[in-house]
Amino acid sequence: MDEPRMRRAIARKRDGAALAADEWTEIVAGFVAGTVGEAQMAALAMACVWRGLAFEETLALTRALVASGETLEWAALDPVDKHSTGGVADGVSAIVVPLVAACGIPVAKLSGRALGHTGGTLDKLEALPGVRTDLAPSAFRAQVERVGCAIAAQSERLVPGDKKLYALRDRTATVPDAGLIAASIVSKKIAGGAVAIVYDVKAGRGAFMHGASEAIELARLLTALTRAFGRPSRALVTDMDEPLGSRIGTGLELLEARDFLRGTHRAARLEVVCRAVAGALLRSAGVESPEERIERALASGAAYERFERMLAAQGARPGALDALVPATPAQRIVAERAGFVREIDAVALGECARELTARGGGAAGIAVMTPAGSVVRTGDELAISYGPGAASLAPRIRDAFNLNEAPAAARPLVVAECSA
Ligand code: URA
Repeated sequence: MDEPRMRRAIARKRDGAALAADEWTEIVAGFVAGTVGEAQMAALAMACVWRGLAFEETLALTRALVASGETLEWAALDPVDKHSTGGVADGVSAIVVPLVAACGIPVAKLSGRALGHTGGTLDKLEALPGVRTDLAPSAFRAQVERVGCAIAAQSERLVPGDKKLYALRDRTATVPDAGLIAASIVSKKIAGGAVAIVYDVKAGRGAFMHGASEAIELARLLTALTRAFGRPSRALVTDMDEPLGSRIGTGLELLEARDFLRGTHRAARLEVVCRAVAGALLRSAGVESPEERIERALASGAAYERFERMLAAQGARPGALDALVPATPAQRIVAERAGFVREIDAVALGECARELTARGGGAAGIAVMTPAGSVVRTGDELAISYGPGAASLAPRIRDAFNLNEAPAAARPLVVAECSA
Protein backbone atom coordinates (compact mmCIF):
# COMPACT_ATOMS: atom_id res chain seq x y z
CA MET A 1 0.00 0.00 0.00
CA ASP A 2 1.49 3.38 -0.97
CA GLU A 3 1.92 6.22 1.51
CA PRO A 4 -1.11 8.36 0.54
CA ARG A 5 -3.51 5.35 0.68
CA MET A 6 -2.03 4.25 3.98
CA ARG A 7 -2.50 7.79 5.32
CA ARG A 8 -6.16 7.69 4.28
CA ALA A 9 -6.60 4.25 5.89
CA ILE A 10 -5.10 5.53 9.17
CA ALA A 11 -7.42 8.55 9.08
CA ARG A 12 -10.48 6.34 8.51
CA LYS A 13 -9.52 4.07 11.39
CA ARG A 14 -8.79 7.13 13.57
CA ASP A 15 -12.31 8.37 12.84
CA GLY A 16 -13.92 5.05 13.77
CA ALA A 17 -14.46 3.31 10.41
CA ALA A 18 -13.65 -0.37 9.82
CA LEU A 19 -10.97 -1.23 7.24
CA ALA A 20 -11.80 -3.82 4.57
CA ALA A 21 -10.22 -7.30 4.52
CA ASP A 22 -8.15 -6.56 1.40
CA GLU A 23 -6.80 -3.40 3.04
CA TRP A 24 -5.54 -5.42 6.02
CA THR A 25 -3.90 -7.87 3.60
CA GLU A 26 -2.13 -5.05 1.76
CA ILE A 27 -1.12 -3.25 4.96
CA VAL A 28 0.49 -6.34 6.54
CA ALA A 29 2.17 -7.39 3.28
CA GLY A 30 3.49 -3.82 2.85
CA PHE A 31 4.73 -3.64 6.44
CA VAL A 32 6.62 -6.93 6.07
CA ALA A 33 8.07 -5.85 2.70
CA GLY A 34 9.07 -2.44 4.10
CA THR A 35 6.85 -0.35 1.83
CA VAL A 36 4.64 0.57 4.80
CA GLY A 37 6.95 2.29 7.28
CA GLU A 38 7.01 2.01 11.06
CA ALA A 39 5.63 5.54 11.61
CA GLN A 40 2.46 4.81 9.66
CA MET A 41 2.07 1.33 11.16
CA ALA A 42 2.47 2.73 14.69
CA ALA A 43 -0.16 5.39 13.98
CA LEU A 44 -2.55 2.72 12.71
CA ALA A 45 -1.90 0.55 15.78
CA MET A 46 -2.67 3.51 18.05
CA ALA A 47 -5.89 4.20 16.12
CA CYS A 48 -6.83 0.52 16.66
CA VAL A 49 -6.20 0.85 20.41
CA TRP A 50 -8.48 3.90 20.56
CA ARG A 51 -11.22 2.72 18.22
CA GLY A 52 -11.05 -1.07 18.61
CA LEU A 53 -11.36 -3.65 15.84
CA ALA A 54 -14.62 -5.23 14.68
CA PHE A 55 -14.62 -9.06 14.58
CA GLU A 56 -14.36 -9.07 10.76
CA GLU A 57 -11.35 -6.75 10.90
CA THR A 58 -9.66 -8.87 13.57
CA LEU A 59 -10.23 -11.95 11.43
CA ALA A 60 -8.84 -10.17 8.35
CA LEU A 61 -5.78 -8.98 10.28
CA THR A 62 -5.22 -12.51 11.64
CA ARG A 63 -5.47 -13.97 8.12
CA ALA A 64 -3.03 -11.37 6.81
CA LEU A 65 -0.54 -12.16 9.60
CA VAL A 66 -0.81 -15.92 8.95
CA ALA A 67 -0.36 -15.31 5.20
CA SER A 68 2.80 -13.27 5.84
CA GLY A 69 4.76 -16.52 6.29
CA GLU A 70 4.58 -20.31 6.08
CA THR A 71 1.97 -22.50 7.74
CA LEU A 72 3.14 -25.77 9.27
CA GLU A 73 1.36 -29.05 8.64
CA TRP A 74 2.05 -32.06 10.81
CA ALA A 75 0.47 -35.07 9.06
CA ALA A 76 -0.49 -37.57 11.80
CA LEU A 77 1.53 -36.02 14.62
CA ASP A 78 -1.38 -33.79 15.75
CA PRO A 79 0.46 -31.44 18.13
CA VAL A 80 -1.38 -29.15 20.55
CA ASP A 81 -0.37 -25.65 21.64
CA LYS A 82 -1.09 -23.15 24.42
CA HIS A 83 -0.70 -19.40 24.71
CA SER A 84 -0.96 -16.87 27.49
CA THR A 85 -2.15 -13.31 26.90
CA GLY A 86 0.73 -12.13 29.10
CA GLY A 87 1.39 -11.82 32.80
CA VAL A 88 4.06 -11.39 35.46
CA ALA A 89 5.96 -14.44 36.80
CA ASP A 90 3.94 -16.40 34.26
CA GLY A 91 6.30 -19.31 33.69
CA VAL A 92 3.43 -21.62 32.69
CA SER A 93 4.64 -22.33 29.13
CA ALA A 94 8.13 -23.45 30.15
CA ILE A 95 6.55 -25.93 32.58
CA VAL A 96 3.46 -27.09 30.71
CA VAL A 97 5.03 -27.70 27.28
CA PRO A 98 7.43 -30.46 28.47
CA LEU A 99 4.88 -31.70 31.01
CA VAL A 100 2.24 -32.35 28.35
CA ALA A 101 4.85 -33.89 26.04
CA ALA A 102 5.86 -36.23 28.89
CA CYS A 103 2.19 -37.30 29.06
CA GLY A 104 2.49 -38.47 25.43
CA ILE A 105 0.95 -35.51 23.58
CA PRO A 106 3.26 -33.53 21.24
CA VAL A 107 3.42 -29.78 21.71
CA ALA A 108 4.56 -27.40 18.96
CA LYS A 109 4.62 -23.91 20.45
CA LEU A 110 5.23 -20.60 18.74
CA SER A 111 5.91 -17.98 21.40
CA GLY A 112 6.59 -14.27 21.81
CA ARG A 113 9.01 -12.00 23.59
CA ALA A 114 8.45 -9.68 26.55
CA LEU A 115 5.64 -7.23 25.90
CA GLY A 116 5.27 -4.19 28.14
CA HIS A 117 5.65 -5.23 31.79
CA THR A 118 4.96 -8.90 30.98
CA GLY A 119 7.63 -11.55 30.44
CA GLY A 120 8.20 -13.39 27.15
CA THR A 121 8.74 -17.14 26.96
CA LEU A 122 11.45 -16.76 24.30
CA ASP A 123 13.51 -14.41 26.47
CA LYS A 124 13.19 -16.86 29.38
CA LEU A 125 14.50 -19.79 27.33
CA GLU A 126 17.30 -17.74 25.79
CA ALA A 127 18.48 -16.76 29.29
CA LEU A 128 20.04 -20.23 29.35
CA PRO A 129 23.45 -20.11 27.62
CA GLY A 130 23.30 -21.61 24.13
CA VAL A 131 19.51 -21.87 23.77
CA ARG A 132 18.08 -20.74 20.43
CA THR A 133 14.46 -20.13 19.60
CA ASP A 134 14.85 -18.96 15.98
CA LEU A 135 14.21 -22.45 14.66
CA ALA A 136 13.70 -22.93 10.92
CA PRO A 137 10.36 -24.65 10.19
CA SER A 138 12.18 -27.91 9.33
CA ALA A 139 14.18 -27.85 12.59
CA PHE A 140 11.02 -27.04 14.58
CA ARG A 141 9.22 -29.98 13.00
CA ALA A 142 12.17 -32.37 13.45
CA GLN A 143 12.46 -31.47 17.13
CA VAL A 144 8.76 -32.02 17.84
CA GLU A 145 9.02 -35.41 16.08
CA ARG A 146 12.13 -36.41 18.02
CA VAL A 147 11.64 -34.83 21.47
CA GLY A 148 7.86 -34.40 21.56
CA CYS A 149 8.01 -30.62 22.07
CA ALA A 150 9.63 -27.39 20.92
CA ILE A 151 9.18 -23.69 21.61
CA ALA A 152 10.11 -21.44 18.71
CA ALA A 153 9.90 -17.77 17.77
CA GLN A 154 8.07 -16.03 14.99
CA SER A 155 10.71 -15.54 12.28
CA GLU A 156 11.24 -14.32 8.74
CA ARG A 157 9.48 -17.55 7.69
CA LEU A 158 6.91 -18.08 10.45
CA VAL A 159 4.44 -15.21 10.96
CA PRO A 160 6.94 -12.44 10.12
CA GLY A 161 4.05 -9.95 10.15
CA ASP A 162 3.44 -10.70 13.84
CA LYS A 163 7.17 -10.61 14.61
CA LYS A 164 7.41 -7.04 13.25
CA LEU A 165 4.09 -5.75 14.56
CA TYR A 166 4.65 -7.29 18.01
CA ALA A 167 7.99 -5.51 18.41
CA LEU A 168 6.47 -2.23 17.20
CA ARG A 169 3.54 -2.51 19.63
CA ASP A 170 5.96 -3.11 22.51
CA ARG A 171 7.82 0.12 21.68
CA THR A 172 4.77 2.28 21.03
CA ALA A 173 2.47 1.38 23.97
CA THR A 174 -0.05 -0.13 21.57
CA VAL A 175 -0.40 -3.55 23.19
CA PRO A 176 -3.69 -3.40 25.12
CA ASP A 177 -6.35 -3.84 22.46
CA ALA A 178 -8.32 -7.08 22.37
CA GLY A 179 -8.33 -7.27 18.55
CA LEU A 180 -4.58 -6.67 18.21
CA ILE A 181 -3.81 -9.16 21.00
CA ALA A 182 -6.14 -11.80 19.56
CA ALA A 183 -4.84 -11.43 15.99
CA SER A 184 -1.24 -11.65 17.22
CA ILE A 185 -1.86 -14.76 19.31
CA VAL A 186 -4.17 -16.65 16.96
CA SER A 187 -1.93 -15.99 13.92
CA LYS A 188 0.93 -17.76 15.70
CA LYS A 189 -1.26 -20.69 16.69
CA ILE A 190 -2.68 -21.17 13.19
CA ALA A 191 0.73 -20.83 11.49
CA GLY A 192 2.16 -23.33 14.01
CA GLY A 193 -0.39 -25.88 12.82
CA ALA A 194 -1.62 -27.16 16.21
CA VAL A 195 -4.79 -29.24 16.03
CA ALA A 196 -6.13 -28.00 19.38
CA ILE A 197 -5.25 -24.90 21.32
CA VAL A 198 -5.64 -23.76 24.94
CA TYR A 199 -5.57 -20.06 25.78
CA ASP A 200 -4.67 -18.78 29.23
CA VAL A 201 -6.34 -15.36 29.33
CA LYS A 202 -5.03 -13.29 32.20
CA ALA A 203 -7.37 -10.99 34.12
CA GLY A 204 -6.33 -8.45 36.72
CA ARG A 205 -4.06 -5.54 37.51
CA GLY A 206 -0.99 -7.34 36.15
CA ALA A 207 -2.66 -8.28 32.85
CA PHE A 208 -3.51 -6.28 29.72
CA MET A 209 -7.19 -6.93 30.49
CA HIS A 210 -7.84 -5.58 33.97
CA GLY A 211 -11.45 -6.58 34.52
CA ALA A 212 -12.80 -10.14 34.47
CA SER A 213 -15.51 -9.14 31.96
CA GLU A 214 -12.93 -7.70 29.51
CA ALA A 215 -10.85 -10.87 29.88
CA ILE A 216 -13.91 -13.06 29.26
CA GLU A 217 -14.62 -11.01 26.11
CA LEU A 218 -11.03 -11.63 24.97
CA ALA A 219 -11.39 -15.34 25.75
CA ARG A 220 -14.54 -15.48 23.58
CA LEU A 221 -12.79 -13.57 20.80
CA LEU A 222 -9.78 -15.93 20.84
CA THR A 223 -11.92 -19.06 20.67
CA ALA A 224 -14.26 -17.61 18.01
CA LEU A 225 -11.31 -16.54 15.83
CA THR A 226 -9.69 -19.96 16.19
CA ARG A 227 -12.98 -21.62 15.24
CA ALA A 228 -13.09 -19.43 12.10
CA PHE A 229 -9.87 -21.25 11.07
CA GLY A 230 -11.56 -24.60 11.69
CA ARG A 231 -9.64 -25.45 14.90
CA PRO A 232 -11.13 -26.24 18.31
CA SER A 233 -9.90 -24.29 21.31
CA ARG A 234 -10.57 -23.71 24.96
CA ALA A 235 -9.80 -20.59 27.00
CA LEU A 236 -9.25 -20.41 30.75
CA VAL A 237 -9.51 -16.96 32.29
CA THR A 238 -7.02 -16.89 35.17
CA ASP A 239 -6.25 -14.36 37.87
CA MET A 240 -3.32 -11.97 37.33
CA ASP A 241 -3.96 -9.47 40.10
CA GLU A 242 -0.54 -10.34 41.49
CA PRO A 243 2.53 -12.20 40.15
CA LEU A 244 1.69 -15.82 39.41
CA GLY A 245 4.92 -17.50 40.41
CA SER A 246 7.57 -16.46 42.91
CA ARG A 247 10.37 -15.45 40.50
CA ILE A 248 10.27 -12.49 38.09
CA GLY A 249 12.88 -12.03 35.37
CA THR A 250 13.85 -14.08 32.37
CA GLY A 251 16.43 -16.54 33.77
CA LEU A 252 14.86 -16.55 37.23
CA GLU A 253 11.56 -17.71 35.73
CA LEU A 254 13.38 -20.48 33.89
CA LEU A 255 15.02 -21.41 37.18
CA GLU A 256 11.56 -21.52 38.74
CA ALA A 257 10.38 -23.83 35.93
CA ARG A 258 13.39 -26.08 36.53
CA ASP A 259 12.70 -26.30 40.27
CA PHE A 260 8.98 -26.81 39.68
CA LEU A 261 9.60 -29.75 37.35
CA ARG A 262 12.21 -31.20 39.70
CA GLY A 263 9.67 -30.90 42.53
CA THR A 264 11.96 -28.85 44.77
CA HIS A 265 9.93 -25.61 44.76
CA ARG A 266 6.36 -25.13 43.58
CA ALA A 267 4.68 -21.75 44.12
CA ALA A 268 1.05 -22.56 44.94
CA ARG A 269 -0.67 -20.25 42.43
CA LEU A 270 1.68 -21.22 39.60
CA GLU A 271 1.00 -24.89 40.30
CA VAL A 272 -2.79 -24.45 40.12
CA VAL A 273 -2.61 -22.73 36.73
CA CYS A 274 -0.03 -25.17 35.31
CA ARG A 275 -2.19 -28.15 36.26
CA ALA A 276 -5.33 -26.48 34.86
CA VAL A 277 -3.69 -25.58 31.52
CA ALA A 278 -1.95 -28.96 31.16
CA GLY A 279 -5.23 -30.72 31.99
CA ALA A 280 -7.12 -28.69 29.36
CA LEU A 281 -4.47 -29.49 26.73
CA LEU A 282 -4.56 -33.21 27.47
CA ARG A 283 -8.35 -33.24 27.47
CA SER A 284 -8.36 -31.45 24.10
CA ALA A 285 -6.16 -34.27 22.78
CA GLY A 286 -8.65 -36.88 24.02
CA VAL A 287 -6.63 -38.05 27.05
CA GLU A 288 -8.75 -39.55 29.80
CA SER A 289 -7.98 -38.84 33.48
CA PRO A 290 -5.44 -36.13 32.62
CA GLU A 291 -4.85 -35.27 36.31
CA GLU A 292 -3.42 -38.76 36.93
CA ARG A 293 -1.17 -38.54 33.87
CA ILE A 294 0.10 -35.15 35.02
CA GLU A 295 0.82 -36.45 38.49
CA ARG A 296 2.74 -39.45 37.11
CA ALA A 297 4.80 -37.30 34.72
CA LEU A 298 5.76 -34.95 37.55
CA ALA A 299 6.39 -37.59 40.21
CA SER A 300 8.43 -39.90 37.95
CA GLY A 301 10.72 -37.10 36.74
CA ALA A 302 9.55 -37.68 33.15
CA ALA A 303 8.41 -34.05 32.80
CA TYR A 304 11.74 -32.72 34.06
CA GLU A 305 13.63 -35.06 31.75
CA ARG A 306 11.56 -33.78 28.80
CA PHE A 307 12.36 -30.19 29.81
CA GLU A 308 16.09 -30.97 29.78
CA ARG A 309 15.81 -32.72 26.40
CA MET A 310 13.87 -29.83 24.89
CA LEU A 311 16.45 -27.29 26.05
CA ALA A 312 19.35 -29.49 24.94
CA ALA A 313 17.76 -29.91 21.49
CA GLN A 314 17.53 -26.10 21.27
CA GLY A 315 21.22 -25.71 22.08
CA ALA A 316 21.52 -25.51 25.89
CA ARG A 317 25.11 -26.05 26.95
CA PRO A 318 25.67 -29.17 29.08
CA GLY A 319 25.37 -28.31 32.76
CA ALA A 320 23.89 -24.84 32.06
CA LEU A 321 20.55 -25.67 33.68
CA ASP A 322 22.18 -26.91 36.89
CA ALA A 323 24.46 -23.88 36.93
CA LEU A 324 21.57 -21.40 36.75
CA VAL A 325 21.76 -19.18 39.87
CA PRO A 326 20.51 -15.65 40.58
CA ALA A 327 22.83 -12.76 39.72
CA THR A 328 24.75 -10.78 42.32
CA PRO A 329 24.57 -8.54 44.26
CA ALA A 330 21.42 -9.57 46.09
CA GLN A 331 19.38 -7.06 48.08
CA ARG A 332 16.92 -8.19 50.77
CA ILE A 333 13.74 -6.11 50.94
CA VAL A 334 12.05 -6.36 54.32
CA ALA A 335 8.71 -5.31 55.78
CA GLU A 336 8.84 -2.01 57.65
CA ARG A 337 5.77 -2.93 59.67
CA ALA A 338 3.66 -5.97 60.49
CA GLY A 339 0.49 -6.85 58.60
CA PHE A 340 -1.13 -8.95 55.91
CA VAL A 341 0.31 -8.78 52.40
CA ARG A 342 -2.94 -7.59 50.90
CA GLU A 343 -1.86 -6.86 47.32
CA ILE A 344 1.31 -7.07 45.26
CA ASP A 345 1.61 -4.65 42.35
CA ALA A 346 2.54 -7.03 39.54
CA VAL A 347 3.09 -4.25 36.99
CA ALA A 348 5.58 -2.45 39.25
CA LEU A 349 7.49 -5.69 39.90
CA GLY A 350 7.40 -6.65 36.20
CA GLU A 351 8.86 -3.25 35.29
CA CYS A 352 11.55 -3.44 37.99
CA ALA A 353 12.51 -6.95 36.84
CA ARG A 354 12.76 -5.75 33.24
CA GLU A 355 15.09 -2.94 34.35
CA LEU A 356 17.20 -5.35 36.39
CA THR A 357 17.59 -7.83 33.51
CA ALA A 358 18.38 -5.00 31.07
CA ARG A 359 21.27 -4.00 33.35
CA GLY A 360 22.35 -7.35 34.73
CA GLY A 361 21.37 -9.97 32.15
CA GLY A 362 19.19 -13.04 32.35
CA ALA A 363 20.00 -14.06 35.92
CA ALA A 364 18.89 -10.71 37.38
CA GLY A 365 15.39 -10.08 38.67
CA ILE A 366 13.22 -10.47 41.74
CA ALA A 367 12.21 -13.30 44.07
CA VAL A 368 8.88 -12.74 45.83
CA MET A 369 9.26 -14.25 49.29
CA THR A 370 5.78 -13.56 50.68
CA PRO A 371 2.83 -14.14 48.36
CA ALA A 372 -0.36 -12.12 48.80
CA GLY A 373 -2.30 -13.37 51.81
CA SER A 374 0.83 -13.96 53.94
CA VAL A 375 1.19 -12.44 57.38
CA VAL A 376 4.49 -10.62 57.99
CA ARG A 377 6.24 -9.18 61.02
CA THR A 378 8.48 -6.12 60.93
CA GLY A 379 11.79 -7.17 59.37
CA ASP A 380 10.43 -10.21 57.49
CA GLU A 381 11.70 -10.65 53.97
CA LEU A 382 9.18 -9.50 51.31
CA ALA A 383 11.42 -9.95 48.30
CA ILE A 384 15.03 -10.22 47.13
CA SER A 385 16.28 -8.28 44.12
CA TYR A 386 19.24 -9.60 42.16
CA GLY A 387 21.82 -8.00 39.90
CA PRO A 388 23.47 -4.59 39.40
CA GLY A 389 21.11 -1.86 40.65
CA ALA A 390 19.34 -4.27 43.04
CA ALA A 391 19.70 -1.86 45.97
CA SER A 392 18.54 1.23 44.07
CA LEU A 393 15.29 -0.49 43.08
CA ALA A 394 14.56 -1.66 46.64
CA PRO A 395 12.20 1.25 47.54
CA ARG A 396 10.07 0.68 44.42
CA ILE A 397 9.95 -3.05 45.10
CA ARG A 398 8.98 -2.48 48.75
CA ASP A 399 6.19 -0.08 47.66
CA ALA A 400 4.76 -2.83 45.45
CA PHE A 401 3.77 -4.75 48.61
CA ASN A 402 0.59 -3.35 50.16
CA LEU A 403 0.58 -4.29 53.85
CA ASN A 404 -2.71 -3.98 55.68
CA GLU A 405 -4.35 -4.89 58.99
CA ALA A 406 -7.01 -6.95 57.22
CA PRO A 407 -6.36 -9.84 54.81
CA ALA A 408 -7.66 -9.66 51.24
CA ALA A 409 -10.65 -11.86 50.39
CA ALA A 410 -9.56 -15.11 48.71
CA ARG A 411 -10.15 -15.09 44.94
CA PRO A 412 -10.53 -18.07 42.61
CA LEU A 413 -7.54 -18.58 40.31
CA VAL A 414 -9.49 -19.94 37.36
CA VAL A 415 -12.16 -17.28 36.95
CA ALA A 416 -14.03 -18.60 33.89
CA GLU A 417 -13.72 -21.02 30.96
CA CYS A 418 -15.07 -21.03 27.44
CA SER A 419 -14.63 -23.09 24.31
CA ALA A 420 -15.55 -23.06 20.63
N1 URA B 1 0.92 -12.48 23.40
C1 URA B 1 1.05 -12.36 22.06
O1 URA B 1 1.56 -13.26 21.39
N2 URA B 1 0.59 -11.25 21.48
C2 URA B 1 0.01 -10.24 22.16
O2 URA B 1 -0.38 -9.26 21.57
C3 URA B 1 -0.12 -10.37 23.57
C4 URA B 1 0.36 -11.52 24.18
